[in-house]
Amino acid sequence: MPKTIAIIGAGIAGLAAAQALRASRRKVIVFDKSRGSGGRLSSKRSEVGNLDLGAQYFTARERHFSTQVQVWRELGLVDSWQPHLYQSRHGVLSYSADEQQRFVGTPRMSALTRSLCAGIDCQFATRISTLENTPQGWLLHDSEGQPHGPFSHVIVATPAPQAVPLLAASQSLSQAAAAVAMLPTWAVALQFAAPLATPVEACFVQHNPLDWIARSQSKPGREHSGDVWIGHGSSAWSAAHLELSPDEICEHLRGALAEVLGCTVPAPTWQLAHRWLYARPEHSHDHGALADPAMGLYACGDWCNGGRVEGAWLSGREAARLLLEQGH
Ligand code: FAD
Ligand code: NAI
Repeated sequence: MPKTIAIIGAGIAGLAAAQALRASRRKVIVFDKSRGSGGRLSSKRSEVGNLDLGAQYFTARERHFSTQVQVWRELGLVDSWQPHLYQSRHGVLSYSADEQQRFVGTPRMSALTRSLCAGIDCQFATRISTLENTPQGWLLHDSEGQPHGPFSHVIVATPAPQAVPLLAASQSLSQAAAAVAMLPTWAVALQFAAPLATPVEACFVQHNPLDWIARSQSKPGREHSGDVWIGHGSSAWSAAHLELSPDEICEHLRGALAEVLGCTVPAPTWQLAHRWLYARPEHSHDHGALADPAMGLYACGDWCNGGRVEGAWLSGREAARLLLEQGH
């Protein structure tokens, strides 16, 4: 039997699993359809600088993750972010400072997942379409029709809807993934030539098309020309406007930003909209990770464990633990 383990998805869950298996001297190959690592924790390079269009920051509440974040801080991969934090409810903006520590990757989010790729064989730009269980082990077929493998085990670390077809060989796993609905988020980045006249650096928003805004250059390590803002449409608004064009989305959310901030928001000098179809699980689940040990098939990701960066990392580690527990 082959000894190599395949992981599908180079987000923080898949890479946490990969590093845990590597630490136990297992040979691992990670596949991702994107050109780089990070998934929803990645950063986009743009002409106005690196942009966090997905995860904005993360918190660390669980003991092992807190310890890991401390290590990342010492390595300079992570820093704390303490924005002038506000909230907006029913159009009323108020200062909303709290004691919560919030972290970001530095100088960009993807610094974190890039470091997690160290020592791991990552095959990017490879979308896995089907898994075939052969007497020699698992064969992975990519969207170009190329086979990869055989592998002794497979860990699927993609969002739940993308995991369903990959987990088809295991009824229990594919049913568990199919039961998880994931909601979309439209993200925009807007650059203004002159700074907007507001002290706000981040804001939790309710009763508005937006549910979050952040001034990108308030995060450690972010350098931009102009004043660059990130806005996230709420799940409900994003779902209702899924098919609008990126320009229409930018226009709507610029108006929403003006409503939240209560200041003049001129036409942006540069703009970008990105649609995350599977941004967050609709409901919180606490599977940790999912296993079908008899098949050698495992699943992990934020959807298994609370829907945040911390939960995704813990889920990846749990998938590795379940696999190693079988004595492989
Ligand atoms: P992902 O990051 O989605 O990784 C899955 C990977 O699988 C991707 O890289 C994808 O390309 C790959 N993939 C999928 N299908 C295939 C296939 N068939 N073949 C090969 N590769 C495939 N969390 C927080 O804690 N704080 C926040 O502030 C926060 N804000 C967010 C804002 C937005 C807009 C979004 C979208 C998410 C946010 N999150 C936040 C959630 C956080 O980003 C996720 O919980 C976490 O990054 C999920 O990691 P993951 O590894 O489970 O999945
Ligand atoms: P957190 O503790 O900072 O925030 C959790 C939630 O508590 C916030 O969404 C907000 O509603 C509320 N909150 C926290 N501090 C507040 C304050 N000072 N004033 C007003 N409200 C406050 O971070 P945690 O628990 O790590 O959550 C991560 C964040 O990521 C959440 O905001 C979540 O909505 C967001 N997220 C967004 C996704 C998307 O698709 N847009 C997907 C997954 C997470």
